Amino acid sequence: MRSRIILLMAATADGKIARNRDHFPDWTGPADKRMFKALTLQSGVVIMGSRTFDSIGRPLPARHHVVMTRYPGRRPLLEGVYFTDDPPEQIAAGLYRQGYGQAVLAGGAVANTLFAQAGLIDEIVLTVSPRIFGSGLGLFNASLDLELALEDCHLLDTNTVYLKYRVLSG
Ligand SMILES: NC(=O)c1ccc[n+]([C@@H]2O[C@H](COP(=O)([O-])OP(=O)(O)OC[C@H]3O[C@@H](n4cnc5c(N)ncnc54)[C@H](OP(=O)(O)O)[C@@H]3O)[C@@H](O)[C@H]2O)c1
Repeated sequence: MRSRIILLMAATADGKIARNRDHFPDWTGPADKRMFKALTLQSGVVIMGSRTFDSIGRPLPARHHVVMTRYPGRRPLLEGVYFTDDPPEQIAAGLYRQGYGQAVLAGGAVANTLFAQAGLIDEIVLTVSPRIFGSGLGLFNASLDLELALEDCHLLDTNTVYLKYRVLSG
């Protein structure tokens, strides 16, 4: 048994999640931020790559964090944060044993790709902001072949689209 994994990402209209790996995600707008807060509080746990965690700079209140790093031993002890080099299967199984029925996977491209390659993403929630970066990081950073079914699509505010997909295979 394992936790259900929901990938939650904000993208530009040209499918970018950041201009580069150090780009702070301050361009997504208040409606996206409210949605991120609500869904992560509901799940209680957020999985992310170490670069994303470092770009946020601190743990998010009232949420458990699983931060993927190849060097967990180099990280300081932080309340509410588990730095790990466990593979995605082990992370999802471990969270289930701790009582988390679902977990939010919150990027970046490296962490998303590790979970997608393991076939562990069950749902993708994507918000699309009216921006174009032209180049930068995509949702994933390797070749993949996921088939999705669109389950919901609405406006979060006048400018931001909410898309919810179920992952069928891949
Ligand atoms: N738009 C959005 O919704 C959104 C969401 C999240 C992030 N972002 C942006 O995305 C960017 C960061 O994304 P990213 O793809 O560069 O990095 P990332 O996925 O956040 O983290 C990458 C890190 O994961 C660790 N890692 C790599 N392979 C691993 C493995 N096999 N096991 C465990 N850990 C492993 C490495 O850290 P170590 O060097 O510590 O080993 C690597 O540097 C930032 O600009 C951020 O703001 C945007």
